[in-house]
Amino acid sequence: MYRTHNNGALRLQNKGETVTLSGWVQKTRNKGFMVWVDLRDRYGITQLIFDEERSSKEAMAMASELGREFVIQVTGTVIERESKNPNMATGDIEILVAELTVLNSSLTPPFTIEDDTDGGEDLRMKYRYLDIRRKPVRQNLIFRHKVAMAVRNYLSEKSFVEIETPYLIKSTPEGARDFVVPSRMNEGQFYALPQSPQTFKQLLMVGGMDKYFQIVKCFRDEDLRADRQPEFTQIDCEMAFVTQEDILNTFEGLTKHLLKEINGVEVNDFPRMTYDDAMKRYGNDKPDIRFGMEFGELNEATQHREFNVFNQAELVVGIAVPGGNQMTRKEIDQLIDWVKRPQIGAMGMVYCRYNEDGTFKSSVDKFYTEEDMAEWAKITGAKAGDLICILSGATHKVRAQLSALRMELASRLGLRKSNEFAPLWVVDFPLLEWDEDTERFHAMHHPFTSPKPGQMELLKTNPADVKANAYDLVLNGNEIGGGSIRIHDKEIQSKMFDYLGFTPEEAKAQFGFLMDAFQYGAPPHGGIAFGLDRLVAILGGQETIRDFIAFPKNNSGRDVMIDAPAPIDQDQLNELHLKVIYN
Ligand code: AMO
Repeated sequence: MYRTHNNGALRLQNKGETVTLSGWVQKTRNKGFMVWVDLRDRYGITQLIFDEERSSKEAMAMASELGREFVIQVTGTVIERESKNPNMATGDIEILVAELTVLNSSLTPPFTIEDDTDGGEDLRMKYRYLDIRRKPVRQNLIFRHKVAMAVRNYLSEKSFVEIETPYLIKSTPEGARDFVVPSRMNEGQFYALPQSPQTFKQLLMVGGMDKYFQIVKCFRDEDLRADRQPEFTQIDCEMAFVTQEDILNTFEGLTKHLLKEINGVEVNDFPRMTYDDAMKRYGNDKPDIRFGMEFGELNEATQHREFNVFNQAELVVGIAVPGGNQMTRKEIDQLIDWVKRPQIGAMGMVYCRYNEDGTFKSSVDKFYTEEDMAEWAKITGAKAGDLICILSGATHKVRAQLSALRMELASRLGLRKSNEFAPLWVVDFPLLEWDEDTERFHAMHHPFTSPKPGQMELLKTNPADVKANAYDLVLNGNEIGGGSIRIHDKEIQSKMFDYLGFTPEEAKAQFGFLMDAFQYGAPPHGGIAFGLDRLVAILGGQETIRDFIAFPKNNSGRDVMIDAPAPIDQDQLNELHLKVIYN
């Protein structure tokens, strides 16, 4: 038997027991006549003591030779510690070792395996198996498991059935590029890895499995960010015979359950905001509503003077920064530089101080009166002591810029508290989105999303105004889920493909199977998919999903541990009928 207990288990009640423990050597302290070893496993750390008088000579000698991360097994007696450590669960006891077996030695690890490590990101990723021995990483993975289990139990309890769908499929357009897999048996043909199981879950509805879910890997070849990985996990769900209201209620139920079960937090019914409202009030379709700083549109209040920058702008919009008047001139200048960085792209920023004595001082004093500025304060909700930051330009761009500034300032002001949860449904998304590159409308969610009832006709005249039965679940400024009510009628689906620029042949070649299925009694249906990695990270009080994935990819989409992607052998290429041509 390798162990009678784990390294987090023993307490003072076990005093006097003979126990066997196994684990990794976290660190040793050697005083010559006494050696202490911290023995670590997944469950905790237990202190071992070897002492000249009470341990065997052999054990004593071996203990002095132990290196960090050696794997050892010890048998000994639980004794009470002379100096207790209240910060450790096992801090009242130690093991007086009688026998020591070295199960495996270890090279010196390339970084310290402690909560605060000296290892940089790249090094930790290269040796991720060592990183996983560290408590913060280990805890994140266990946390993820708990969330996934809670999801499974909840949905199963509500009669959802988990069904696996294939990974080798045909491309499903969801807005990103596909990862493709060449077929050996079908020369010149390729599978695509699913960006999501979208069409399959719809086929399951046609198949009568009216409540489906799956915790499933999805693959998207897109540019990476802190909240994006090329392979990530969805909690993918679909229901038949439901309205949008049914879906929102069901998955609000799931989210509330998770917040309660995992975080011990009870939240009220989730507020709902239309997409248009979210864009107007926060410049963003995933607003963080844990704090205010709502947008105030200032066109009317600014475009009556000689200030041409504002007069020519499609949108003049500002936010009130709480307590922002404390910022020095230098700090404000730095903020202006911040919004002018290429990543944000603002041309500049006008600011207006709202002094404690009720007076105003702005960077455009030449053009505006105190009354004008008092009006800005009213519109942006500024109070004495605040700073009003104003951007102007093309609506779409300015909203994105001010939204970025709002989030940055909120972070700096400590308003984005990780233990506070503010969920929000964003509803009534536009059906279509104009794509500058292809100069065409694309489905904003995906082409299977149904327009709001009665809006199909608008598609011909005002396509940009058509709203969809599509919704996102936003948590603390992150899109953690999105879905829609689907089209379940063959004719409407064909029309939709037509609007989206598919020829009938293309539509048939890509989605004939779905439209065929719709002819055999497809029920009304809809669903949602949560990003599990994002959900877990946010419930865990963080935003970088890499920290909650056992073996993540880096920002270039590489797994630096196994060194993938990598070239393949000529034999393999031949077998796949592939020739690699480098440009
Ligand atoms: P959508 O594309 O909105 O919808 O994806 C659903 C959720 O998945 C998460 N997500 C990601 N997480 C990590 N890395 C990525 N690269 C990534 N991309 C998306 C987000 C997002 O909200 N089939 C539809 C769902 C439906 O209509 O039911 C879909 O995939 O949290």
